[in-house]
Amino acid sequence: MAKIAVVYYSSTGNTHQLAQAVAEGAEEAGAEVRLRRVAETAPDAAIDSNPAWRAHLDAVADVQIAAPEDLEWADGYALGTPTRFGTPSAQLKSYLDTLGGLWATGKLANRGATAFTSAQNTHGGNESTILTLFNVFSHFGAVIVPPGYTDPLLFDAGGNPYGASVASGGDANAASDKVLAAARYQGRRLAEISAKLVA
Ligand SMILES: Cc1cc2nc3c(=O)[nH]c(=O)nc-3n(C[C@H](O)[C@H](O)[C@H](O)COP(=O)(O)O)c2cc1C
Repeated sequence: MAKIAVVYYSSTGNTHQLAQAVAEGAEEAGAEVRLRRVAETAPDAAIDSNPAWRAHLDAVADVQIAAPEDLEWADGYALGTPTRFGTPSAQLKSYLDTLGGLWATGKLANRGATAFTSAQNTHGGNESTILTLFNVFSHFGAVIVPPGYTDPLLFDAGGNPYGASVASGGDANAASDKVLAAARYQGRRLAEISAKLVA
């Protein structure tokens, strides 16, 4: 049984929905799963300027905050973030910037790794955000586990071979059942391949 960490940031819930679905999929594959959100770093004034942002932050108060140890523990990990100008959020990046010690001792290497995101627009940077996280995975020495086109349900979800993504249109919690099915599939696939890596 693989140990899978799903570590994500979400301001208004879309990436949170994907994270939950990835975690569910990994559990369906028999994995032990840690679902963790990274710490919010934005000032209250910014959060309060967007009621959906404040509402989401209040709603996830009971989701544990990610620590570096969560990735050290994992046989495979999934990282999720909203798209920010075509790249990952500062909040997720702040978490990544705490991982130097683990990286230096090789403790992030040889794990399965996958990524998911949400952007407002279909072509607003979903793919470039995930590919940016693939750069990070390369530095870790991880084994990147993209969904590719390995199941027909991925076409129904928009056909993103890099990772699950939801074009939110600026709404909160906009992920469709088809996108959530793709995210669950991605979690299952990560768990299955990570289990093979540690076998
Ligand atoms: C500073 C900032 C930059 C953003 N950059 C992009 C972008 O490059 N492309 C895009 O389509 N949406 C962009 N968005 C919108 C978010 O990516 C989008 O609302 C996403 O669905 C939010 O995910 P969440 O609900 O998990 O927080 C941006 C939002 C903010 C606040």
